[in-house]
Amino acid sequence: MAARLWFACLTITTAVFYSSAQSPPASRSAPTFYKDVLPILQQHCQTCHRRGEIAPMPLESYLDAKKYAKQIQRMTSSKAMPPWFADPRFGKFSNDPSLTAEQIATIAAWVEAKSPEGNPADAPPPAHWAQGWNIPKPDLVIEMPQPVSLPAHGDVEYTYEIVPTGFTEDKWVQASEIRPSSRDHVHHAVVYIRPPNSKWLRNAPVGRPFTAADMTSEQDLRDALFTDSDMLLVYAPGSSPDNWPEGMAKCIPAGSDLIFQMHYTTNGHAAKDQTAVGIVFSGQPPRQRVLTLQLANHSFVIPPGAPDFRVEVFGTLPNDATLLSFFPHMHLRGKRFEYDVIHADGSIETLLRVNYHFHWQMSYRLAEPRFLTAGTKLKAVGWFDNSRHNPHNPDPEQTVRWGPQTYDEMMVGFFDLAVPANVDKWQYFVRHSPAR
Ligand code: HEC
Repeated sequence: MAARLWFACLTITTAVFYSSAQSPPASRSAPTFYKDVLPILQQHCQTCHRRGEIAPMPLESYLDAKKYAKQIQRMTSSKAMPPWFADPRFGKFSNDPSLTAEQIATIAAWVEAKSPEGNPADAPPPAHWAQGWNIPKPDLVIEMPQPVSLPAHGDVEYTYEIVPTGFTEDKWVQASEIRPSSRDHVHHAVVYIRPPNSKWLRNAPVGRPFTAADMTSEQDLRDALFTDSDMLLVYAPGSSPDNWPEGMAKCIPAGSDLIFQMHYTTNGHAAKDQTAVGIVFSGQPPRQRVLTLQLANHSFVIPPGAPDFRVEVFGTLPNDATLLSFFPHMHLRGKRFEYDVIHADGSIETLLRVNYHFHWQMSYRLAEPRFLTAGTKLKAVGWFDNSRHNPHNPDPEQTVRWGPQTYDEMMVGFFDLAVPANVDKWQYFVRHSPAR
């Protein structure tokens, strides 16, 4: 028995990040909160389960965890928590919060032992969260200049606010995070970078909310929904902030404006929202610049009742680039989403497959960024469930097309690339080497 216990200890201590190789085996017999459970909560749960964040209850103190012990065991054993939707057969992702089998077993053993507290001296150092942020303390917070009033019911058109940055030199963004003030109403938010030479929404008002309906010219109306401007970042519930690897950053050129594009949904309570974006600048100029591109299909027609309707889109990289991350976006009928590379011999390599969940729109960051040469063919595939078996489906009788509201559909595979620091999005699309 003693030998088996030792064996169990060894597998635990080698497989997980909090090692207790120093302690005598007896103390491992029942896991305790401070020694065994709190490190897991800090690393895998508190980004959301702390005061002021998106989860319904904090899991910070012993009392927090003890109160929810049974639910914690249930949600971790079933792998419902932490939320993660990538099919484990494809790709490895650095922001995968999933617990190891050992961690799940540790939590179960702790709950079964009636949640012992243990010795506070065994606790890991407290996690340092910048107050209100999941990135390090921002160097700059840019808020929408005016709050947007949201009605209790009905659709809200996409709402924009333009904010001049006043930057007199190019600025490099290492990390950024979007913080809605009324999170329950934000279905998605995009912060675009409008460089000074861009004509996009040039006739629109600055510093106050407007929608496409306020646009007077046809061109501005079209512009409201379609742009080739680069994005600083996208937010959707459950999404994580951007934090680029060392030596890589997003560029906000001197004189740029930030344009907030807000998609609000109503939920029976009127509210005001004033979303902000927090920015951490790079310590030094990066070697590479991060661009966000997309593979999108706008012309699909999903028949009523279709349970697994497939939509695909192809693209070819105009120049070499390093692929960093993905952010699939669909609406209520979204079911699965996949990104593939099509090799020269026609074989298909799947980089990511997501079992899509409308309430959890996440980014997936490659554990190892992937260098792709000019001419690489990329494919994105989305599957939609328009049947009555989809619990989110607002109306299985409808034929569904692309559109901005959640009862319309979208099929957008955002992805982030790193390119040389002096290349902007427009230059990237100028082909330097012949396509294969
Ligand atoms: C990305 C954010 C996020 C992370 C990380 C996360 N949770 Fe959650 N959790 C939520 C949200 C939001 C809910 C509310 C229910 C829902 O929307 O699914 C929730 C619900 C729960 C519940 C259900 C409460 C109930 O109603 O029964 C438990 C238990 C739970 N989480 C435990 C955990 C544990 C344990 C971890 C870490 C191992 C974790 N969560 C990680 C966001 C998160």
